Amino acid sequence: MSALAPQAALSKGTLTVIEHKGAVHVQHSPKRCPPFLSMAQERGSSMRTNAATLDAPTTSSPSSTLPTEAARRTAFREDFTPELAEPVEATVEGKVPTWIHGSFIRNGPGTFQGMKHLFDGYAMLAKFAFENGTVKVSHRFVETEAYKAFRETGKMQFPEFGTQVPALKTLWLTFLGMTGLGKGFTDNSSVNVVPTPDGKQLISMTESVAGTYRVDLDLNTLGQLEFRDGVKGLLTTAHPTLLPDGSMINLTSGFGSHYTVFRQNRATNVREAIAQVPLRSPPTPSWIHDFPVTENYAVVPETPIFFNLKAAVFGGAEYLMFDWKPEKRSVLHLVNLKTGSVTQFDAPPYFTFHYINSFETADGSALCFDFSKFEDPEFLNGLLLDNLRGNKRPIAPSPLVRVTVPLDGSSSTATLQPLLKDNSYTFCELPRVNPHYKGKEYRYAYAVSAKLPASFGNALAKFNVKEGTVIQWHEAGCIPVEPLMVPRPGAQEEDDGVVLSVVTGANGNSFLLILDATSFEEVARAKLPHGIPYGFHGTFVHAD
Ligand SMILES: [Fe+2]
Repeated sequence: MSALAPQAALSKGTLTVIEHKGAVHVQHSPKRCPPFLSMAQERGSSMRTNAATLDAPTTSSPSSTLPTEAARRTAFREDFTPELAEPVEATVEGKVPTWIHGSFIRNGPGTFQGMKHLFDGYAMLAKFAFENGTVKVSHRFVETEAYKAFRETGKMQFPEFGTQVPALKTLWLTFLGMTGLGKGFTDNSSVNVVPTPDGKQLISMTESVAGTYRVDLDLNTLGQLEFRDGVKGLLTTAHPTLLPDGSMINLTSGFGSHYTVFRQNRATNVREAIAQVPLRSPPTPSWIHDFPVTENYAVVPETPIFFNLKAAVFGGAEYLMFDWKPEKRSVLHLVNLKTGSVTQFDAPPYFTFHYINSFETADGSALCFDFSKFEDPEFLNGLLLDNLRGNKRPIAPSPLVRVTVPLDGSSSTATLQPLLKDNSYTFCELPRVNPHYKGKEYRYAYAVSAKLPASFGNALAKFNVKEGTVIQWHEAGCIPVEPLMVPRPGAQEEDDGVVLSVVTGANGNSFLLILDATSFEEVARAKLPHGIPYGFHGTFVHAD
Protein backbone atom coordinates (compact mmCIF):
# COMPACT_ATOMS: atom_id res chain seq x y z
CA MET A 1 0.00 0.00 0.00
CA SER A 2 2.87 2.35 -0.58
CA ALA A 3 2.18 5.68 -2.19
CA LEU A 4 1.59 5.12 -5.85
CA ALA A 5 1.25 7.36 -8.85
CA PRO A 6 -1.67 9.77 -8.70
CA GLN A 7 -4.96 8.06 -9.45
CA ALA A 8 -7.06 11.13 -9.85
CA ALA A 9 -6.91 14.88 -9.55
CA LEU A 10 -10.12 16.28 -8.13
CA SER A 11 -11.12 19.89 -8.05
CA LYS A 12 -13.99 20.84 -5.77
CA GLY A 13 -14.60 24.55 -5.72
CA THR A 14 -11.36 26.14 -4.66
CA LEU A 15 -10.03 22.96 -3.08
CA THR A 16 -7.63 20.95 -5.20
CA VAL A 17 -7.14 17.35 -4.17
CA ILE A 18 -4.62 15.08 -5.85
CA GLU A 19 -5.62 11.57 -4.88
CA HIS A 20 -3.05 8.84 -4.40
CA LYS A 21 -3.73 5.27 -3.43
CA GLY A 22 -2.02 5.75 -0.10
CA ALA A 23 -1.61 9.49 0.14
CA VAL A 24 -3.62 12.59 -0.55
CA HIS A 25 -1.90 15.83 -1.38
CA VAL A 26 -4.05 18.83 -0.53
CA GLN A 27 -3.33 22.27 -1.88
CA HIS A 28 -5.50 25.18 -0.84
CA SER A 29 -6.35 28.16 -2.95
CA PRO A 30 -6.90 31.49 -1.21
CA LYS A 31 -10.17 33.28 -0.42
CA ARG A 32 -12.34 30.33 0.45
CA CYS A 33 -15.55 30.45 2.41
CA PRO A 34 -15.51 29.35 6.10
CA PRO A 35 -13.61 26.08 6.07
CA PHE A 36 -15.62 23.46 7.84
CA LEU A 37 -18.98 24.30 6.36
CA SER A 38 -17.64 24.71 2.89
CA MET A 39 -15.94 21.32 2.87
CA ALA A 40 -18.99 19.70 4.39
CA GLN A 41 -21.29 21.31 1.87
CA GLU A 42 -19.08 20.17 -0.96
CA ARG A 43 -19.68 16.64 0.24
CA GLY A 44 -23.33 17.11 1.06
CA SER A 45 -22.81 16.49 4.77
CA SER A 46 -24.23 18.24 7.82
CA MET A 47 -20.96 18.21 9.73
CA ARG A 48 -22.02 20.40 12.63
CA THR A 49 -25.02 18.31 13.65
CA ASN A 50 -23.80 16.77 16.87
CA ALA A 51 -26.77 14.48 17.24
CA ALA A 52 -26.13 12.79 13.92
CA THR A 53 -24.44 9.42 13.70
CA LEU A 54 -22.13 9.42 10.74
CA ASP A 55 -22.29 6.70 8.17
CA ALA A 56 -19.84 4.09 9.33
CA PRO A 57 -18.46 1.03 7.59
CA THR A 58 -19.37 -1.98 9.69
CA THR A 59 -16.95 -4.48 8.21
CA SER A 60 -13.21 -4.49 7.78
CA SER A 61 -13.70 -3.36 4.17
CA PRO A 62 -13.42 0.41 4.25
CA SER A 63 -16.07 2.21 2.28
CA SER A 64 -15.65 5.74 3.53
CA THR A 65 -13.22 8.04 5.30
CA LEU A 66 -14.63 6.94 8.66
CA PRO A 67 -12.75 4.30 10.66
CA THR A 68 -14.10 0.80 10.26
CA GLU A 69 -15.81 -1.00 13.09
CA ALA A 70 -12.79 -3.31 13.35
CA ALA A 71 -10.44 -0.34 13.67
CA ARG A 72 -12.62 1.23 16.34
CA ARG A 73 -12.81 -2.03 18.28
CA THR A 74 -9.02 -2.05 18.47
CA ALA A 75 -8.39 1.64 19.04
CA PHE A 76 -10.98 1.98 21.82
CA ARG A 77 -10.61 -1.51 23.19
CA GLU A 78 -12.71 -2.48 26.20
CA ASP A 79 -10.93 -5.64 27.30
CA PHE A 80 -7.24 -5.85 28.21
CA THR A 81 -4.58 -5.90 25.55
CA PRO A 82 -2.42 -8.98 26.17
CA GLU A 83 1.09 -7.95 27.14
CA LEU A 84 3.88 -8.75 24.71
CA ALA A 85 6.99 -8.77 26.89
CA GLU A 86 9.09 -10.80 24.47
CA PRO A 87 9.62 -8.75 21.29
CA VAL A 88 8.07 -10.12 18.11
CA GLU A 89 9.36 -9.27 14.65
CA ALA A 90 6.86 -7.43 12.48
CA THR A 91 6.33 -8.16 8.80
CA VAL A 92 7.90 -5.38 6.77
CA GLU A 93 6.50 -4.14 3.46
CA GLY A 94 8.84 -1.78 1.67
CA LYS A 95 12.34 -1.09 2.96
CA VAL A 96 13.03 0.28 6.41
CA PRO A 97 16.03 2.66 6.23
CA THR A 98 18.91 1.05 8.13
CA TRP A 99 19.95 4.41 9.59
CA ILE A 100 16.88 4.18 11.84
CA HIS A 101 18.59 2.46 14.74
CA GLY A 102 16.94 2.61 18.13
CA SER A 103 13.53 2.39 19.73
CA PHE A 104 10.31 4.22 19.04
CA ILE A 105 8.40 4.08 22.33
CA ARG A 106 4.84 5.26 22.78
CA ASN A 107 2.51 5.70 25.73
CA GLY A 108 -1.24 5.24 25.72
CA PRO A 109 -4.11 3.20 27.12
CA GLY A 110 -3.99 -0.59 27.05
CA THR A 111 -7.61 -1.02 28.05
CA PHE A 112 -10.72 1.05 28.60
CA GLN A 113 -12.53 -1.53 30.68
CA GLY A 114 -15.34 0.15 32.63
CA MET A 115 -14.24 3.59 31.46
CA LYS A 116 -15.99 6.43 29.67
CA HIS A 117 -13.35 8.63 28.08
CA LEU A 118 -10.38 8.29 25.74
CA PHE A 119 -8.10 9.79 28.39
CA ASP A 120 -9.05 7.22 31.06
CA GLY A 121 -7.33 4.00 29.97
CA TYR A 122 -4.55 2.34 31.96
CA ALA A 123 -1.08 3.11 30.68
CA MET A 124 0.61 0.69 28.32
CA LEU A 125 3.97 1.37 26.69
CA ALA A 126 4.53 0.06 23.17
CA LYS A 127 8.05 -0.29 21.80
CA PHE A 128 9.15 -0.62 18.18
CA ALA A 129 12.84 -1.56 18.05
CA PHE A 130 14.67 -0.85 14.77
CA GLU A 131 17.80 -2.75 13.78
CA ASN A 132 19.22 -3.37 10.32
CA GLY A 133 15.91 -2.78 8.60
CA THR A 134 13.88 -4.98 10.94
CA VAL A 135 11.25 -3.92 13.47
CA LYS A 136 10.47 -5.80 16.68
CA VAL A 137 7.39 -5.01 18.73
CA SER A 138 6.64 -5.34 22.44
CA HIS A 139 4.15 -3.74 24.81
CA ARG A 140 3.60 -3.80 28.55
CA PHE A 141 1.46 -2.03 31.12
CA VAL A 142 3.01 0.48 33.50
CA GLU A 143 2.64 -0.99 36.99
CA THR A 144 0.95 1.98 38.60
CA GLU A 145 -1.07 1.84 41.81
CA ALA A 146 -4.24 2.61 39.86
CA TYR A 147 -3.62 -0.22 37.37
CA LYS A 148 -2.62 -2.76 40.02
CA ALA A 149 -5.66 -1.90 42.15
CA PHE A 150 -7.93 -2.44 39.17
CA ARG A 151 -6.21 -5.69 38.24
CA GLU A 152 -6.60 -7.01 41.77
CA THR A 153 -10.18 -5.93 42.43
CA GLY A 154 -11.73 -5.73 38.97
CA LYS A 155 -12.93 -2.21 39.76
CA MET A 156 -11.48 1.25 39.38
CA GLN A 157 -10.18 2.44 42.73
CA PHE A 158 -9.06 5.88 41.53
CA PRO A 159 -11.02 8.41 39.46
CA GLU A 160 -9.71 8.93 35.96
CA PHE A 161 -10.09 11.88 33.59
CA GLY A 162 -13.67 11.24 32.52
CA THR A 163 -14.79 8.44 34.85
CA GLN A 164 -15.60 8.94 38.51
CA VAL A 165 -15.43 6.45 41.37
CA PRO A 166 -17.70 6.77 44.45
CA ALA A 167 -17.54 10.39 45.65
CA LEU A 168 -16.38 9.56 49.17
CA LYS A 169 -13.37 7.74 47.75
CA THR A 170 -12.44 10.71 45.54
CA LEU A 171 -12.88 13.16 48.41
CA TRP A 172 -10.68 11.03 50.64
CA LEU A 173 -7.95 10.77 48.00
CA THR A 174 -8.12 14.52 47.38
CA PHE A 175 -7.88 15.23 51.10
CA LEU A 176 -4.84 12.99 51.43
CA GLY A 177 -3.19 14.70 48.50
CA MET A 178 -3.90 18.26 49.59
CA THR A 179 -2.68 17.62 53.14
CA GLY A 180 0.45 15.87 51.98
CA LEU A 181 -0.60 12.61 53.62
CA GLY A 182 -1.00 10.78 50.32
CA LYS A 183 -0.46 11.03 46.59
CA GLY A 184 -3.86 12.46 45.78
CA PHE A 185 -5.13 11.83 42.29
CA THR A 186 -4.65 8.81 40.10
CA ASP A 187 -1.11 7.82 39.17
CA ASN A 188 -2.19 6.31 35.84
CA SER A 189 0.89 7.28 33.87
CA SER A 190 -0.64 7.08 30.39
CA VAL A 191 0.15 10.27 28.48
CA ASN A 192 3.81 10.67 27.54
CA VAL A 193 7.25 9.15 27.86
CA VAL A 194 10.64 10.87 27.73
CA PRO A 195 14.16 9.40 27.89
CA THR A 196 16.73 10.01 30.60
CA PRO A 197 19.77 11.94 29.32
CA ASP A 198 21.82 8.74 28.89
CA GLY A 199 19.02 7.06 26.92
CA LYS A 200 19.06 4.04 29.23
CA GLN A 201 15.76 4.64 31.02
CA LEU A 202 12.42 6.32 30.43
CA ILE A 203 10.23 8.62 32.47
CA SER A 204 6.54 7.85 31.99
CA MET A 205 4.25 10.79 32.69
CA THR A 206 0.71 12.00 33.08
CA GLU A 207 -0.94 15.10 34.55
CA SER A 208 -0.61 14.07 38.19
CA VAL A 209 2.82 14.36 39.81
CA ALA A 210 2.11 10.99 41.42
CA GLY A 211 1.93 9.45 37.95
CA THR A 212 5.64 9.96 37.19
CA TYR A 213 7.31 6.56 36.82
CA ARG A 214 10.73 5.25 35.84
CA VAL A 215 10.74 2.47 33.26
CA ASP A 216 13.62 0.60 31.63
CA LEU A 217 14.02 0.01 27.91
CA ASP A 218 12.58 -3.51 28.26
CA LEU A 219 9.46 -1.77 29.59
CA ASN A 220 9.90 -3.01 33.16
CA THR A 221 8.38 -0.56 35.63
CA LEU A 222 11.17 0.46 38.02
CA GLY A 223 9.16 2.60 40.40
CA GLN A 224 7.41 5.82 41.11
CA LEU A 225 9.51 8.98 41.23
CA GLU A 226 9.45 10.56 44.67
CA PHE A 227 10.11 14.29 44.76
CA ARG A 228 11.48 15.82 47.96
CA ASP A 229 12.54 19.15 46.54
CA GLY A 230 9.95 21.51 47.95
CA VAL A 231 8.21 22.19 44.65
CA LYS A 232 4.50 22.08 45.53
CA GLY A 233 1.54 21.06 43.39
CA LEU A 234 -0.26 17.77 42.72
CA LEU A 235 -0.89 18.50 39.04
CA THR A 236 1.66 18.89 36.28
CA THR A 237 1.85 18.56 32.51
CA ALA A 238 3.01 15.54 30.54
CA HIS A 239 4.61 17.91 28.05
CA PRO A 240 7.94 19.05 29.46
CA THR A 241 10.36 20.77 27.13
CA LEU A 242 13.64 18.84 27.02
CA LEU A 243 16.77 20.98 26.98
CA PRO A 244 20.16 20.00 25.51
CA ASP A 245 21.82 20.13 28.94
CA GLY A 246 19.78 17.14 30.16
CA SER A 247 17.20 19.14 32.09
CA MET A 248 13.60 19.88 31.25
CA ILE A 249 11.15 22.71 31.88
CA ASN A 250 7.70 21.90 33.27
CA LEU A 251 5.11 23.31 35.65
CA THR A 252 2.95 22.23 38.56
CA SER A 253 -0.44 23.48 39.64
CA GLY A 254 -3.16 22.57 42.08
CA PHE A 255 -5.98 24.06 44.06
CA GLY A 256 -4.16 26.95 45.69
CA SER A 257 -2.69 30.29 44.73
CA HIS A 258 -0.13 29.74 42.00
CA TYR A 259 1.49 27.64 39.30
CA THR A 260 5.18 26.83 39.67
CA VAL A 261 7.43 26.75 36.62
CA PHE A 262 10.44 24.56 37.33
CA ARG A 263 13.55 23.03 35.85
CA GLN A 264 14.09 19.30 36.43
CA ASN A 265 17.38 17.48 36.13
CA ARG A 266 16.41 14.36 34.17
CA ALA A 267 19.32 12.38 35.61
CA THR A 268 18.78 13.14 39.31
CA ASN A 269 15.10 14.21 38.97
CA VAL A 270 15.70 17.09 41.36
CA ARG A 271 13.41 20.02 40.53
CA GLU A 272 14.28 23.68 41.01
CA ALA A 273 11.56 26.34 41.00
CA ILE A 274 12.08 29.14 38.49
CA ALA A 275 8.98 31.24 39.05
CA GLN A 276 5.65 31.24 40.82
CA VAL A 277 2.78 32.44 38.68
CA PRO A 278 -0.37 33.63 40.47
CA LEU A 279 -3.71 32.01 39.61
CA ARG A 280 -6.13 34.60 38.33
CA SER A 281 -9.09 32.81 39.93
CA PRO A 282 -7.69 31.18 43.07
CA PRO A 283 -8.03 28.51 44.23
CA THR A 284 -9.08 27.17 40.82
CA PRO A 285 -6.41 26.72 38.16
CA SER A 286 -6.93 26.61 34.43
CA TRP A 287 -6.38 23.24 32.81
CA ILE A 288 -2.96 23.45 31.16
CA HIS A 289 -2.10 20.36 29.13
CA ASP A 290 0.91 21.83 27.36
CA PHE A 291 2.71 25.17 27.29
CA PRO A 292 5.18 27.00 25.03
CA VAL A 293 8.86 27.22 25.95
CA THR A 294 11.65 28.98 24.06
CA GLU A 295 15.32 29.54 24.88
CA ASN A 296 14.62 32.40 27.29
CA TYR A 297 10.93 32.16 28.15
CA ALA A 298 8.06 29.96 29.16
CA VAL A 299 4.45 30.98 28.62
CA VAL A 300 1.90 29.82 31.19
CA PRO A 301 -1.34 30.03 29.19
CA GLU A 302 -4.35 30.63 31.43
CA THR A 303 -7.04 30.00 28.86
CA PRO A 304 -10.66 30.22 30.10
CA ILE A 305 -11.06 26.50 30.86
CA PHE A 306 -11.14 26.10 34.63
CA PHE A 307 -11.17 23.01 36.83
CA ASN A 308 -14.48 22.44 38.60
CA LEU A 309 -13.62 20.49 41.76
CA LYS A 310 -17.25 19.61 42.44
CA ALA A 311 -17.59 18.17 38.94
CA ALA A 312 -14.34 16.25 39.37
CA VAL A 313 -15.98 14.43 42.28
CA PHE A 314 -19.62 14.25 41.25
CA GLY A 315 -19.60 15.03 37.52
CA GLY A 316 -22.07 17.44 36.00
CA ALA A 317 -19.95 20.13 34.37
CA GLU A 318 -20.61 20.97 30.74
CA TYR A 319 -17.16 19.72 29.75
CA LEU A 320 -16.33 16.78 32.02
CA MET A 321 -14.64 18.35 35.09
CA PHE A 322 -14.19 21.78 33.50
CA ASP A 323 -16.02 25.09 33.18
CA TRP A 324 -15.63 27.17 30.02
CA LYS A 325 -15.73 30.94 30.58
CA PRO A 326 -14.74 32.64 27.32
CA GLU A 327 -15.81 36.04 28.67
CA LYS A 328 -12.70 35.90 30.87
CA ARG A 329 -10.50 35.75 27.73
CA SER A 330 -6.98 34.32 28.13
CA VAL A 331 -4.11 35.54 30.28
CA LEU A 332 -0.61 34.67 29.12
CA HIS A 333 2.04 34.72 31.85
CA LEU A 334 5.44 35.27 30.27
CA VAL A 335 8.12 33.77 32.51
CA ASN A 336 11.73 34.79 32.02
CA LEU A 337 13.60 31.51 32.55
CA LYS A 338 16.82 33.34 33.48
CA THR A 339 15.45 35.86 36.01
CA GLY A 340 12.13 34.31 37.05
CA SER A 341 10.28 37.56 36.34
CA VAL A 342 6.66 37.21 35.21
CA THR A 343 4.75 39.56 32.87
CA GLN A 344 1.05 39.25 32.02
CA PHE A 345 -0.48 39.67 28.56
CA ASP A 346 -4.12 39.71 27.53
CA ALA A 347 -5.12 37.38 24.69
CA PRO A 348 -8.33 36.19 23.02
CA PRO A 349 -10.10 33.16 24.49
CA TYR A 350 -9.18 29.85 22.94
CA PHE A 351 -9.08 26.15 23.69
CA THR A 352 -6.31 23.82 22.66
CA PHE A 353 -4.49 20.73 23.86
CA HIS A 354 -1.04 21.12 22.33
CA TYR A 355 1.34 23.78 21.14
CA ILE A 356 3.00 22.98 17.83
CA ASN A 357 6.11 25.05 18.46
CA SER A 358 7.24 28.39 19.83
CA PHE A 359 10.17 30.70 19.14
CA GLU A 360 11.60 34.15 19.71
CA THR A 361 11.88 36.24 16.56
CA ALA A 362 15.39 36.92 15.24
CA ASP A 363 15.26 40.59 16.31
CA GLY A 364 14.06 39.63 19.80
CA SER A 365 10.97 41.83 19.56
CA ALA A 366 8.39 39.05 19.95
CA LEU A 367 7.69 35.50 20.99
CA CYS A 368 5.44 33.46 18.73
CA PHE A 369 3.65 30.21 19.47
CA ASP A 370 1.51 28.11 17.18
CA PHE A 371 -1.36 25.74 17.87
CA SER A 372 -4.65 24.44 16.53
CA LYS A 373 -7.52 26.49 17.89
CA PHE A 374 -10.83 24.98 18.98
CA GLU A 375 -13.73 27.38 19.45
CA ASP A 376 -14.64 25.69 22.74
CA PRO A 377 -13.87 22.42 24.60
CA GLU A 378 -16.66 20.47 22.88
CA PHE A 379 -14.00 18.21 21.34
CA LEU A 380 -13.40 16.90 24.88
CA ASN A 381 -16.96 15.59 24.98
CA GLY A 382 -16.50 14.16 21.51
CA LEU A 383 -13.74 11.98 22.95
CA LEU A 384 -16.17 10.10 25.19
CA LEU A 385 -15.75 6.46 24.18
CA ASP A 386 -19.42 6.03 23.37
CA ASN A 387 -19.08 8.76 20.75
CA LEU A 388 -15.88 7.34 19.31
CA ARG A 389 -17.06 3.74 19.21
CA GLY A 390 -20.24 4.78 17.43
CA ASN A 391 -18.78 7.42 15.09
CA LYS A 392 -21.43 9.63 16.65
CA ARG A 393 -19.97 13.11 16.33
CA PRO A 394 -18.37 14.97 13.47
CA ILE A 395 -14.87 16.03 14.31
CA ALA A 396 -14.55 19.56 15.69
CA PRO A 397 -12.59 21.96 13.46
CA SER A 398 -9.29 23.26 14.81
CA PRO A 399 -7.53 25.56 12.33
CA LEU A 400 -3.91 26.52 12.88
CA VAL A 401 -3.18 29.90 14.45
CA ARG A 402 -0.18 31.87 15.67
CA VAL A 403 -0.10 34.02 18.81
CA THR A 404 2.47 36.82 18.93
CA VAL A 405 3.56 38.14 22.32
CA PRO A 406 5.46 41.46 22.20
CA LEU A 407 8.79 41.37 24.04
CA ASP A 408 9.74 45.00 23.38
CA GLY A 409 7.31 46.58 25.84
CA SER A 410 5.16 48.00 23.06
CA SER A 411 1.93 46.40 24.27
CA SER A 412 0.43 44.22 26.96
CA THR A 413 -1.82 42.46 24.44
CA ALA A 414 -0.94 39.36 22.48
CA THR A 415 -2.41 38.98 19.00
CA LEU A 416 -3.84 35.87 17.39
CA GLN A 417 -3.79 35.32 13.64
CA PRO A 418 -4.39 32.44 11.24
CA LEU A 419 -1.16 30.57 10.68
CA LEU A 420 -1.76 29.30 7.18
CA LYS A 421 -2.18 31.68 4.26
CA ASP A 422 -5.52 30.05 3.63
CA ASN A 423 -6.86 29.00 6.99
CA SER A 424 -9.29 26.52 5.52
CA TYR A 425 -7.50 23.47 6.91
CA THR A 426 -9.95 22.01 9.37
CA PHE A 427 -8.26 19.74 11.88
CA CYS A 428 -4.84 19.41 13.45
CA GLU A 429 -3.94 17.61 16.65
CA LEU A 430 -1.00 15.84 18.25
CA PRO A 431 1.55 18.01 16.41
CA ARG A 432 5.30 17.36 16.36
CA VAL A 433 8.26 19.10 14.78
CA ASN A 434 11.84 18.14 14.05
CA PRO A 435 13.27 17.92 17.60
CA HIS A 436 16.27 20.03 16.59
CA TYR A 437 13.84 22.88 15.81
CA LYS A 438 11.88 22.72 19.07
CA GLY A 439 11.77 26.23 20.54
CA LYS A 440 13.26 27.72 17.38
CA GLU A 441 11.90 29.34 14.23
CA TYR A 442 10.77 26.51 11.99
CA ARG A 443 9.06 25.62 8.75
CA TYR A 444 7.54 22.14 9.08
CA ALA A 445 5.06 20.51 11.45
CA TYR A 446 3.55 17.03 11.37
CA ALA A 447 0.20 16.17 12.96
CA VAL A 448 -2.87 13.99 12.98
CA SER A 449 -5.43 15.52 10.65
CA ALA A 450 -8.76 14.66 9.11
CA LYS A 451 -10.11 13.83 5.72
CA LEU A 452 -13.79 14.73 5.89
CA PRO A 453 -16.25 13.46 6.76
CA ALA A 454 -14.53 12.36 9.94
CA SER A 455 -15.49 11.40 13.46
CA PHE A 456 -11.88 11.30 14.65
CA GLY A 457 -8.41 11.99 13.32
CA ASN A 458 -8.16 9.71 10.29
CA ALA A 459 -5.18 11.15 8.41
CA LEU A 460 -1.70 12.58 8.88
CA ALA A 461 -0.54 15.97 7.65
CA LYS A 462 2.68 17.81 6.97
CA PHE A 463 2.34 21.57 7.31
CA ASN A 464 4.69 24.13 5.82
CA VAL A 465 3.93 27.04 8.15
CA LYS A 466 5.96 29.51 6.13
CA GLU A 467 4.28 28.71 2.81
CA GLY A 468 0.89 27.85 4.24
CA THR A 469 0.66 24.53 2.42
CA VAL A 470 -0.46 21.08 3.54
CA ILE A 471 0.29 17.54 2.39
CA GLN A 472 -1.96 14.80 3.74
CA TRP A 473 -1.59 11.04 4.07
CA HIS A 474 -4.77 9.03 4.33
CA GLU A 475 -5.83 5.41 4.03
CA ALA A 476 -9.49 4.45 4.11
CA GLY A 477 -10.85 3.04 7.35
CA CYS A 478 -7.68 3.63 9.41
CA ILE A 479 -6.87 5.47 12.64
CA PRO A 480 -3.32 6.90 12.82
CA VAL A 481 -1.69 8.27 15.98
CA GLU A 482 0.71 11.16 16.62
CA PRO A 483 3.40 11.30 13.91
CA LEU A 484 6.92 11.50 15.30
CA MET A 485 9.58 13.11 13.12
CA VAL A 486 13.00 11.42 13.36
CA PRO A 487 15.71 13.40 11.56
CA ARG A 488 18.29 11.56 9.50
CA PRO A 489 21.71 11.63 11.24
CA GLY A 490 23.71 14.52 9.82
CA ALA A 491 20.72 16.00 8.00
CA GLN A 492 21.08 19.58 6.76
CA GLU A 493 17.44 20.15 5.85
CA GLU A 494 14.69 20.49 8.45
CA ASP A 495 12.50 17.84 6.83
CA ASP A 496 15.25 15.31 6.03
CA GLY A 497 14.23 12.18 7.92
CA VAL A 498 11.22 9.99 8.48
CA VAL A 499 7.88 10.31 10.17
CA LEU A 500 6.75 7.38 12.33
CA SER A 501 3.17 6.66 13.27
CA VAL A 502 1.29 3.60 14.51
CA VAL A 503 -1.85 3.06 12.49
CA THR A 504 -4.84 0.92 13.38
CA GLY A 505 -5.67 -0.60 10.02
CA ALA A 506 -9.11 -1.13 8.57
CA ASN A 507 -8.93 -4.82 9.54
CA GLY A 508 -8.25 -3.94 13.19
CA ASN A 509 -4.58 -4.91 13.13
CA SER A 510 -1.93 -2.25 13.67
CA PHE A 511 1.08 -1.33 11.59
CA LEU A 512 4.01 0.97 12.07
CA LEU A 513 3.96 3.45 9.21
CA ILE A 514 7.18 5.06 7.97
CA LEU A 515 6.77 8.13 5.80
CA ASP A 516 9.49 10.11 4.04
CA ALA A 517 9.47 13.39 5.98
CA THR A 518 10.18 15.37 2.81
CA SER A 519 7.70 13.92 0.31
CA PHE A 520 5.31 12.52 2.93
CA GLU A 521 5.06 9.35 0.87
CA GLU A 522 5.25 5.89 2.35
CA VAL A 523 8.68 4.31 2.70
CA ALA A 524 7.65 1.12 4.51
CA ARG A 525 5.22 -0.35 6.98
CA ALA A 526 5.81 -3.00 9.64
CA LYS A 527 2.66 -5.05 10.11
CA LEU A 528 1.55 -6.64 13.39
CA PRO A 529 -0.67 -9.71 13.58
CA HIS A 530 -2.80 -7.93 16.17
CA GLY A 531 -4.01 -4.49 17.16
CA ILE A 532 -2.72 -1.90 19.64
CA PRO A 533 -5.18 0.56 21.17
CA TYR A 534 -5.03 4.26 20.43
CA GLY A 535 -2.12 6.10 22.07
CA PHE A 536 -1.04 9.65 22.80
CA HIS A 537 2.64 10.55 22.75
CA GLY A 538 6.00 8.93 22.16
CA THR A 539 9.73 9.38 21.80
CA PHE A 540 12.61 7.93 19.84
CA VAL A 541 15.61 6.63 21.78
CA HIS A 542 18.67 6.29 19.59
CA ALA A 543 20.85 3.21 20.00
CA ASP A 544 24.53 3.74 20.67
FE1 LIG B 1 -0.79 15.64 25.13
